[in-house]
Amino acid sequence: MTDSPSGMKKGLANYGDADFSLFLRKAFIKAMGYSDSALDRPIVGITNTYSGYNACHRNVPDLIEAIKRGVMLAGGLPIEFPIVSMHESFSHPTSMFLRNLMAMDAEEMIRAQPMDSVVLIGGCDKTVPALLMGAASVDLPAILEVTGPMMTGSYRGEKLGACTDCRRFWAMHRAGEVSEAETEEISGKLAPGAGTCMVMGTASTMALVSEALGMMLPGGAAIPAVAADRLRHAEATGARAVAIAAEKLRPSEIMTEAAFANALRVLQAIGGSTNGLIHLTAIAGRLGISLDFATFNRIGAETPVLVDLKPSGQHYMEDLEKAGGLAPVLREIEDLLDTGCRTVSGKTLREDIADAPAPWPQDVVRTMADPIHQGGGIRILGGNLAPKGAVIKQAAATPALLKHAGRAVVFDSLQDLAERIDSPDLDVGPDDVLVLRNA
Ligand code: FES
Repeated sequence: MTDSPSGMKKGLANYGDADFSLFLRKAFIKAMGYSDSALDRPIVGITNTYSGYNACHRNVPDLIEAIKRGVMLAGGLPIEFPIVSMHESFSHPTSMFLRNLMAMDAEEMIRAQPMDSVVLIGGCDKTVPALLMGAASVDLPAILEVTGPMMTGSYRGEKLGACTDCRRFWAMHRAGEVSEAETEEISGKLAPGAGTCMVMGTASTMALVSEALGMMLPGGAAIPAVAADRLRHAEATGARAVAIAAEKLRPSEIMTEAAFANALRVLQAIGGSTNGLIHLTAIAGRLGISLDFATFNRIGAETPVLVDLKPSGQHYMEDLEKAGGLAPVLREIEDLLDTGCRTVSGKTLREDIADAPAPWPQDVVRTMADPIHQGGGIRILGGNLAPKGAVIKQAAATPALLKHAGRAVVFDSLQDLAERIDSPDLDVGPDDVLVLRNA
């Protein structure tokens, strides 16, 4: 049996016979200044998801440099290539459409260009699922590096986190407690640097569940974007990208049904974003795996919320990193995980957990005996209001809200909500349920 083509010989364009197509390809790539010896090495593609609109990916140029160093130290040839960039605040009308565009872009560019493995750099909410969706469809050896969370900001002595505090301050502004001038000052403090939102929003959630899924080297989810450790993790990722090319370790061998069950359990244990479920469903779908909502609810019933991060708790991602990152979470729920799953490290999840630094006293990741919330963070609901199901983050609700009867006060659109919500004439009371339709 002959090996399938690798490196520059992969996926030749159609210019007649294969030798001519390769000759032509080499002629053009040599214009970049590569030597024949460089071009004979395994090629590691590196997705560049940075743009001037994307502060969450501001450190991508530095990450690319560190990943390239890792690739070259391991004997590969790194080649970066752009795909669309996407930031939540710059994605009209909604970043969800663009998630699917990014997934298609990643898939087609990975498939179209010659590479033996690919490093996926993502971070901002929709980017990590988009990249994993694209990589899953191509099923070329792939490894994820996230940009990492932002450090917290500070305003007049108070710690701030995007975007839990964005909404809190805006509500105070609407209530007349924070002036226009103060909102300008606060907007300069909420997102104080490079990286993703540092609360347990979608970006933090997707970083943690992707590590649990096995697509990122251990310890990578919570390292802050500006930390030297982030660059070291990127360098190690580059080196590992060369190894998975040789091993031909494919995403479909890592993202198995059992690995998704692990990711769903971690989603519950971290009190992750409801979007995590939507994205995991989409990634699994690319591999022909369908996530079962009854199973998800059962996993939730068995798995308490252990991570004390805003918005449901009190800490931030930098605190989770100081507490050991995802490792203490995995250790605490190890008996509930399928630790035989293989990860991109080349080892099993069991071995990755055993290799993590020994635990130390901390108060960010709680124990199973003393959780933040009994029962998982998220639950799928059914009923006449949502015949096809609805997702609720029960960990973020006070117990009184979990069983509630009240009048529905309905807004038909975001514009309707904005126009009427602050009106003194709005007929609304503390026990009413606000309903936003067509969002
Ligand atoms: Fe990019 Fe929050 S806006 S992670």
